[in-house]
Amino acid sequence: MTSKPEPSVTLHDKTFHLYISHAQIQERITAIAKTIDAEYQGKRPLFITVLNGAFMFAADLARAVTIDCEWAFVRLSSYQGTESTGTVSQVLGLKDDVEGRHVIVVEDIVDSGRTMANFLPELEVEHPASIAIATLLFKPEALKHEVQPDHVCFETGNEFVVGYGLDYDELGRNLPDIYRLQE
Ligand code: IMP
Ligand code: MG
Repeated sequence: MTSKPEPSVTLHDKTFHLYISHAQIQERITAIAKTIDAEYQGKRPLFITVLNGAFMFAADLARAVTIDCEWAFVRLSSYQGTESTGTVSQVLGLKDDVEGRHVIVVEDIVDSGRTMANFLPELEVEHPASIAIATLLFKPEALKHEVQPDHVCFETGNEFVVGYGLDYDELGRNLPDIYRLQE
C-alpha cells in the first residue's frame, strides 16, 4: 500500500537517512497489539496518547488492538529543535476519569524519560488500577529518569530521529517511515 520510502530527506537545515520502514513499524505494532489484547482482555484499558508525536503510532495501534478499549489524548512537551528544554507542560487537560482504570500511556519516544517521569505521578494521584507505557521508540542510553516502558516497538541508539509522528522543529511528522540524523 505504501510506496517505496525515500532513502533520505532534508528538513530545515538537516539531512536524515532512512532508518525504519513503515512495513517494519507495522510488524512491531501488530506484535504489541497482540500482547495488549491478551493482557487486557476484559479490562477495557484506557489508552492515553501523548500528542503531538504519538498521533500516528496511536492511530495504527488503535486499529491493531481488537479488545474493547477507550482512547484519550494529552499534550505534553519538553523538546525544542533537537534539544530537550527541561520543561513539561500539560497543554491539553485530561478530562477522562482514570480512577480504577487500566491505563496505557502511548508515547512516540522515551528519551531522557523526563516526560514520563513527570506525567506518571500526575496519573498516579488519580488512582488508576494500573499504568503501562507503550512507546514507538526507546533510547535506553539517553535515559536519565527511572522509567521502564512496558511495550517498545524499537530500541534505538542515542540519535535524533524524525518521521511517523516525530518532528524536527515541526517538520517531518507526516513521513510514513522513520529517518535518523547522521552527523
Ligand atoms: P524525554 O522527556 O526526554 O523522554 O523526551 C520525550 C519527548 O521528546 C518525546 O515524546 C519526543 O516528543 C521528544 N523527542 C525525544 N527524542 C526525540 C527524537 O529523536 N526526535 C524527535 N523528538 C524527540
Ligand atoms: Mg512526545
